[in-house]
Amino acid sequence: MKTFATTIITALIVAAEGVYAFPSTGTTPLRNEASKKDILIGSGAINPMYLNDPEFAAVLANQFNSLSPENEMKWSFINPTKGHYNWDTIDRLVNFAEDNNMVVKGHGLISSCCNPDFLLNITHPTAFRTAMKTHFEAIMHRYDGKIDRWDVVTEALKTQGGGLNNNTFYQVLGPGYIADAFRIARAAAPDAKLFINENLVESLPGKRQELYNLVSSFVAKGVPIDGVALQMHITEVAPKPGVITEMVNSYKALGLEVAIAELDVHTLDNAVETDIYDAVVSEALDAGITDISFWGFTDKHAYTWVQGAKPLMFDQCYKPKSEFYATHAALTNFVNRS
Ligand code: G3I
Repeated sequence: MKTFATTIITALIVAAEGVYAFPSTGTTPLRNEASKKDILIGSGAINPMYLNDPEFAAVLANQFNSLSPENEMKWSFINPTKGHYNWDTIDRLVNFAEDNNMVVKGHGLISSCCNPDFLLNITHPTAFRTAMKTHFEAIMHRYDGKIDRWDVVTEALKTQGGGLNNNTFYQVLGPGYIADAFRIARAAAPDAKLFINENLVESLPGKRQELYNLVSSFVAKGVPIDGVALQMHITEVAPKPGVITEMVNSYKALGLEVAIAELDVHTLDNAVETDIYDAVVSEALDAGITDISFWGFTDKHAYTWVQGAKPLMFDQCYKPKSEFYATHAALTNFVNRS
């Protein structure tokens, strides 16, 4: 029997700047299968510099209908000093998406890293909240109508659970900073979807409940939030079957949606990794998740904490891996019953 590897031939894509060759998958692009079923299939962790590599750009545009930046929208990257914004990087992503009929998700308005000194030096709550409002408005107004959804707060909870992260926002504004951030974001971008982005809840039951308690308290208080973005950085072990479905149903009961925002799988065993891609994407689709993004797509630019792991679905040379085919099969096998 022929393996996928032996059937791979070179595909060509014609873009505004020229014609590019990249390894063919031998099948339809993920985005074609996803779009038929109204699903967003995206790649996060897109550093705009990577677009300088024509193969990277071609595979991204060919396979995905959504993208989001890696660090470039985090505070110290986009707004390193008071009043100065590095628009070029995100403009480039947004233009690339527009040229290739993709949507863009904003990532990193508030994240657990990367805050500039000028912000860290503000200790008075009123001035700090004003800085937050100015920052959100500058970014969200610039990309009004061009960025359709945002991770407003990323990693609000401690990594293993057990309370809110003791970050700068918490220290200056107290626990109310999260609700403040969502209110400011809604006023700045009334038409965009607003997510709280969190890690590890699929594998830590206590943290899962904590996130639910936090988000349901927001809903009870009328804090404007549209959904929960599960990072899904998986190390070695898949979430227990049923957990994703249970989360989707519990948030649906609150009127909220669940998205997968940063899926990747960190293990040295490629067969295990493939099974996890299959299990997570299949359960997510069956549960009704319509927005699935990975934390990048090529091992050339993978971010991993497991030395030697290759967590993404294309290899360093853009050849599709079995993780790609598992994702493709999950999308094609999915029957949309809604
Ligand atoms: O830009 C500096 C550079 O000036 C300096 O010389 C260099 C020295 O270490 O560091 C550079 O910054 C690094 C930055 O990435 C840009 O490359 C930081 O050290 C490094 O910590 C940072 O890592 C990022 C990490 O978030 C920060 O928490 C990763 O690239 C990024 O992939 C990762 O993304 C996060 C999501 O935002 C949230 N969910 C988890 C996800 C993966 O951990």
